[in-house]
This record gives sequence, structure tokens and C-alpha cells, in this order.
Amino acid sequence: MEKEKPRGPLYYADYLQLDRLLSCQRMESALHGRPAHDEMLFIIVHQAYELWFKQILWELDAVLATFRGPSVREEDLGQAVLYLGRIVEIQRVLIQQVDVLETMTPLDFLDFRDYLIPASGFQSVQFRLIENKLGMRRRDRLQLNDAPYTSRFSPEDAARVEASEKESSLFDLIQGWLERTPFLNFGDFDFWREYAQAVDAMLAADRASIRGNPTLTDDEKATQLKGVEAMVGKFADLFQAEAGEPEASSGRHFSRRALQAALLINLYRDEPILHLPFQLLAILADIERNFTTWRQRHAQMAMRMIGTRIGTGGTSGHEYLDRAAERHRVFSDLSALSSFFIPRSALPRLPADVRNRMGFRFQAP
Ligand code: HEM
Repeated sequence: MEKEKPRGPLYYADYLQLDRLLSCQRMESALHGRPAHDEMLFIIVHQAYELWFKQILWELDAVLATFRGPSVREEDLGQAVLYLGRIVEIQRVLIQQVDVLETMTPLDFLDFRDYLIPASGFQSVQFRLIENKLGMRRRDRLQLNDAPYTSRFSPEDAARVEASEKESSLFDLIQGWLERTPFLNFGDFDFWREYAQAVDAMLAADRASIRGNPTLTDDEKATQLKGVEAMVGKFADLFQAEAGEPEASSGRHFSRRALQAALLINLYRDEPILHLPFQLLAILADIERNFTTWRQRHAQMAMRMIGTRIGTGGTSGHEYLDRAAERHRVFSDLSALSSFFIPRSALPRLPADVRNRMGFRFQAP
């Protein structure tokens, strides 16, 4: 193999390839002979987004690799939590970056908007890869004039995005990991029966407090009691022993077994062995929330910039983005998990041998 030539001391601009990076801003308005000052900001903000998307994919791929194996080692779980936590911080930057772009006024945007047609953020491959790697399924996406969401891509980009749909997503892998959790079976101790009893007591107290509330009208009481009965149904569904997906309206949902494991991890998060799994689930819920917040912020920005016009990519614009923010969710089960919580004081106490098996306890010699 040819030996690498000796190089001089590493130079900042060479290391970062700044000559290439900083010559990638080509204004369409200038090419059309009508340079619009704010187009530079528009390009740089989009490029900054794409760089951060690249970093998110980098972290996501490392986390996916950790969960792809037959089991996940404790050390690797810690690393995965760090990488996912990094994604959360990047998302915060991405949400804030909308403010920078909004220093451009709608009239200034109109100076160059028409030159952009039919290009649109809708064609961001990296954005779609992030969605798919997290676990968004094609069938859960909003339909766009009967055309698949990949129809606006070049054939190579469409192939890349379609390939990502076929890999196991983070949702699939986390679901598998939750289903494998050993703490669902406690030997003779029937956790779920004890938990169901505690839930019954809690819901009975809820009913009594609604009925005895002097500030509520009879109609209000009836509505609130209906809410309690809906919860009874949800609990009954969760407690069913068989595997499979619980009844749900639409979107992605964990299997019953995975949901039970996620609940258990949340309820008994004070057990040392459940600390990291608890953090992991909390961070996934943060990622989901941040994604939705970005979608909502972006939809508001689109409304401010273009009102109710269609987007440069040809969707209904703000209306499409608003509905996507509502519907395009993957880990919403984790945010909704708190519906199944009961107060700590009512939690069934785990038998000593179960706690011993779960804890990292120092054994005195
Ligand atoms: C003036 C600022 C912006 C406006 C008015 C705007 C408008 C829109 C509109 C109307 C759509 C729907 C698709 C279409 O018909 O074109 C869209 C999609 C999208 N835009 Fe923007 N956008 C802006 C800035 C950005 C920025 C800075 C990014 C960062 C990468 C971005 C990323 C996206 C993505 C990823 C989608 C697809 C969303 C989805 O399908 O859920 N946009 N945008």
C-alpha cells in the first residue's frame, strides 16, 4: 500500500473543508438576475438543518446497532441513552432555529419564493430517513393526492428512502427489547392481579370524588364518569394476557407485552436496574415531543410566510403541515403511559426475592 505523504501541520480550514462548505450557497434569485438579500439566510438555515439531520442520523444509526443484537448489554444501554440525549439537545437547537428564519418577513420571502418551485423541504431525504428509522410507517402517513410521499424524489433518493422502510426501525427494536424484559414474570407473585386491584381502588376513589363534588352539575358529573369508564376499558385491555396490539384508533402502538414492560419500568424506576431503561423511555418520549413541537413551529412559520397558499412542493401548505404534526407520531404510547400510573403509595410491593434479583445490592461478606 502506498504510504501517505507527510503532511504539514493540520490547518483549520483544511480540516473542515471550509472552501467547499462555504462555496455551497448559490442564490436562485441572483441566477435570475434579481438578487434577494434574504435568500442567503434561507439557504444557510436549510443547510444548517441538513447538517444537524446528518448528526441525528449518525447517533440514530449507532443506537439502532445497539438494539439490533439478540440482547442489549448494560454498558451499551448507557451509551445509547447518551446518544439519544444528544438528539434531544439537537432538536432543541432545530426548534430555536425557526426564530432565526422568522427574522425574514413574508414580503422578503416573496422576493425569491417563486424561483424555488417545485423544490421543497418535503424532498429532504435525511428528514424522511430520520422519520423512517424512528419507525414511521408508510400506511400511517397522510395521503397526498394518491401519490406516495416518495413521488417527489429523484429515483436514487426514492430508492434510498424506500430501503430505509425495510430495515427494523427504532420502534421495532425497542418493542422487541421491551417484550424481552425479564421482569414481567415474577414467579409466584402475580403482579398484574395486584396491580389491577390497586387500579380498581383508584378508579373507585375517582368515581366517588366526582359524585361527591358539589361544584359539578349533573351533566358535568356524567361526562367525567364517562371518562373514568373509558379508563376502565383501557386498563382491561392492557391487563389482557395475550400478546398483540391493544385496541387503538390509528398510528403506531406498542404490543400489549411491550406496553406492560414500559409501564413496569416507569412504576419501579427506583429499582437500580431500571434506572437506565427508565431514562431511555423518557428520552424517547422527549424525542417524540420535540419532533411534534418542530412540526408545529414549522407549520406556524409556513402560515406566517405564505398564509393559506399551497406549498412550493405542491401540498395544501399549512393545512397539510398542521395535520402531519397531529398524525405523524411514533412513540406517542410513551407519552400517554402516565394514564396508567397509580400513586406510589398504592403500588404493589415487590417480594423481597424479586427485589433482590433486580437490585445491584452489596452483599456483606
Ligand atoms: C420560509 C420558510 C419555510 C416555509 C414557508 C416552508 C413551507 C413548507 C411547506 C408549505 C411544506 C409542505 C410541502 C410543500 O407543499 O412544499 C413544507 C414541508 C417541509 N419543510 Fe418547510 N418551509 C420553510 C422552511 C423550512 C426549513 C428551514 C426546513 C428545514 C429543513 C423545512 C423543512 C421541511 C420539511 C422536512 C418538510 C416536510 C414536512 C412533512 O412532510 O411532514 N422547511 N415546508
